[in-house]
Amino acid sequence: MKDSSPQTIYLKDYTPPAWLVEDVHLTFRLAPRATRVTSRVRFVPNPEATAREFFLHGEELKLISCHIDGRSVTPEVTPEGLTCDVPDGPFTWEAEVEISPETNTALEGLYMSSGMYCTQCEAESFRKITYYPDRPDVMAPFTVRIESDLPVMLSNGNPVAQGQGWAEWHDPWKKPSYLFALVAGNLVNHPDSFTTMSGREVELNIWVRPGDLHKCAFGMEALKKSMKWDEEVYGREYDLDIFNIVAVDDFNMGAMENKGLNIFNSSAVLASPETSTDANFERIEAIIAHEYFHNWTGNRITCRDWFQLCLKEGLTVYRDSQFTSDMRSAPVKRISDVIDLRARQFPEDQGPLSHPVRPESFQEINNFYTATVYEKGAEVIGMLKRLVGDEAYARALDLYFERHDGDAATIEDWLKVFEDVTDRDLTQFKRWYSQSGTPRLKVTEEWTPADASRPPSRDLAANPEAPDQVRGGTGTYTLTFEQHTPPTPGQRDKAPQVLPIAVGLLTPNGDEVVPTTLLEMTEAKQSFSFDGLTRKPVPSLLRGFSAPVVLEREASREERLFLLAHDTDSFTRWEASRDLARASMLGALTDPSKGPDRTWLEALRGVVRDTELDPAYRALLLALPGENEMAQTLHERGITPDPEAIHSTRQAHLQARAELWQANLPILAEEVAVTAPYRPDAEQSGKRALGAAVLDMQSRIDWGKTAARQFETADNMTQQLSALACLIRYDAKNSARYIRDFYDQWKDDRLVIDKWFMLQVSEATPDRAAEAAEGLTQHPDFDLKNPNRFRATLGALAMNHAGFHRADGAGYALLADWLIRLDTLNPQTTARMCSVFQAWRRYDADRQALIRSNLERIAAKPDLSRDVAEMVGRILA
Ligand code: ARG
Ligand code: ZN
Repeated sequence: MKDSSPQTIYLKDYTPPAWLVEDVHLTFRLAPRATRVTSRVRFVPNPEATAREFFLHGEELKLISCHIDGRSVTPEVTPEGLTCDVPDGPFTWEAEVEISPETNTALEGLYMSSGMYCTQCEAESFRKITYYPDRPDVMAPFTVRIESDLPVMLSNGNPVAQGQGWAEWHDPWKKPSYLFALVAGNLVNHPDSFTTMSGREVELNIWVRPGDLHKCAFGMEALKKSMKWDEEVYGREYDLDIFNIVAVDDFNMGAMENKGLNIFNSSAVLASPETSTDANFERIEAIIAHEYFHNWTGNRITCRDWFQLCLKEGLTVYRDSQFTSDMRSAPVKRISDVIDLRARQFPEDQGPLSHPVRPESFQEINNFYTATVYEKGAEVIGMLKRLVGDEAYARALDLYFERHDGDAATIEDWLKVFEDVTDRDLTQFKRWYSQSGTPRLKVTEEWTPADASRPPSRDLAANPEAPDQVRGGTGTYTLTFEQHTPPTPGQRDKAPQVLPIAVGLLTPNGDEVVPTTLLEMTEAKQSFSFDGLTRKPVPSLLRGFSAPVVLEREASREERLFLLAHDTDSFTRWEASRDLARASMLGALTDPSKGPDRTWLEALRGVVRDTELDPAYRALLLALPGENEMAQTLHERGITPDPEAIHSTRQAHLQARAELWQANLPILAEEVAVTAPYRPDAEQSGKRALGAAVLDMQSRIDWGKTAARQFETADNMTQQLSALACLIRYDAKNSARYIRDFYDQWKDDRLVIDKWFMLQVSEATPDRAAEAAEGLTQHPDFDLKNPNRFRATLGALAMNHAGFHRADGAGYALLADWLIRLDTLNPQTTARMCSVFQAWRRYDADRQALIRSNLERIAAKPDLSRDVAEMVGRILA
């Protein structure tokens, strides 16, 4: 335990900066262990501030010298920064510091990766580069000079000049320090250009290590599509002469939106058909779009303070999801997003790490780059758009860009533009930003049959096409909703939130009698009636997943089968299938004499054979809820999940389905076979996704024969990898050989070798997963310093639900051992991975005791980082 307890920062304590920055000049003399950074910063008093104290953030810096207006000064230096006596009015600050990029394993600030220099400054790491007011509400134009003998030297903005051994960049747009970036190395570029809507020509580049040049084309196309889309849909034009993307092998997150110089984890930008899967391509397209969209939502309009993180992240995730919907299939994107939300955000929101979309306190802000801030933050924007309508949303966004361009803004500013455009009072809506936890929504229905004394509804006359039998009667159908959000850390009682509930009503023969209608629920309990009906309709509830809630409704199997066959909303149709799968597995888990629900499997077969439906959608209908989701479902119903039982029940379901559908598999496989050259687009990817599901079923029956053929002949990674997965699963005798062959083929490609590490752990049987991961940590290619490799090995273990939760605790102990080792090198990635323990209170007392002792072991590590201390503390609280 450390004696100095870490400081907690509160939103309520925000005060404006005492000093503002007019401009910044930085010079970097690069050297691996002794880089010299000199800064010249013009400070002016902030008229909005009351205090005049001069404080500059700075961590792990060796201060060489500093001057104010040319006179040498001696500041008071602490581990967090420095203070100094300064003039009352404007002055020029100059400092020289020394830093050591080569030994920077935390990958925050300036560091080295595969021989190149690069930076990551968000959220608070610019202070590891030089002394500066490192807060997002201090914005300034930057001029940067880089000196080194490396061929490529990049920074933000436009290139100004360069010569032998130096380059100079100027970014005219004022920005906070977290958007600063520098890259230098032996890099090559994939060049292109884009003409903006006002006719300006922008130079585009993707910079990579020489061997990766063949993996840039897809990312470049994605960038150009993103630039065009943002012009067409949001009216946003790019604002510099050049846009650079750099691929970096060692990176804590996916990518970073530094102004004009986006830096990417190489896994989030590099792709080729032979080495990348369809899922990789889709993710790359989305991340390129995300970072590019930040140029307006994040950079031109930034956040006042880090509590407002969702202002840029929720909005930018929402924008990139719109982009993906437009480029690919909107229903498939929506369902995939909901699967992801339930897998990552719901457990977070319902466990010890639960926090509001706009948190109110933190110790380490890097711990709040969460599914709640990003994905729930995006859901909140989707709800807002649903409530105000598309047209008002568009006007509100125009006003937001017009009113706040150049600002460091808040959630209050964001909501105000919607209030001004719509005249709506968003006070209650704002609870979505302040209340944590996932609302539970109970529904009951009531049917009041035809009242003979009342005349039939006028509806029929107004709409003669309305399906007869149902519309045109005098019956009333009432839905009563009750919302309740369980307590979360620091929040016992919750007030009702505004819930946009999209519903449709179907006739018993599948016609839509009430098309999708948005109900606006504002009370804790509220009823909505539909009259003029002749027969009781079937409800299709929460269409499009119109609000991020847990819907509690025990619909009958018949009703779910009906919706699976007939629902006109693709989301709720998929949800019906998911509910049936869940119910079948729950049934078998609570009563072991029960097998899989064959009626459901027969019905599902009918839908999956429907060649009118998008193969990608059919693949989603086929996917059973994962083991972790089943554990969460059991927990929600007050049942302690047994990981081994969940695993074997799920396997039994998959096996039964494969056997039942055996005769249909060759026809399905034939239907989705792709003969055209590989393209990572929605159409081909959908076919391959369905093909992979079919291959899994076939492999259960032929013990890998079909998979072996696919493995040998595949000309793309998607099919090679799905075949290898089947061989590991179902051909125990030969799988070692295939694993070896794959390694020999790809040993020089680190992104493919990440997949090789990951697959062996994620596909290991529960009793073997910990050993598989442990064995791989001894492999010469295991590299503790590379976050991708660490996640591929130890992260994959945590994703193998039954393997991780093995009853003897081997999975927990192995992960804790490695987290303790990693913390010394890279606190941020360590802290992030601690979240795999967040759902620990779901499990039985023995497992809880094992997890607790491992968490306590981590907490007791000498010199534990602030990042991990906060995470473990919150999980154990
Ligand atoms: N703003 C980046 C992204 O979304 C995330 C970078 C966060 N990095 C960090 N170390 N907290 O899009
Ligand atoms: Zn982002």
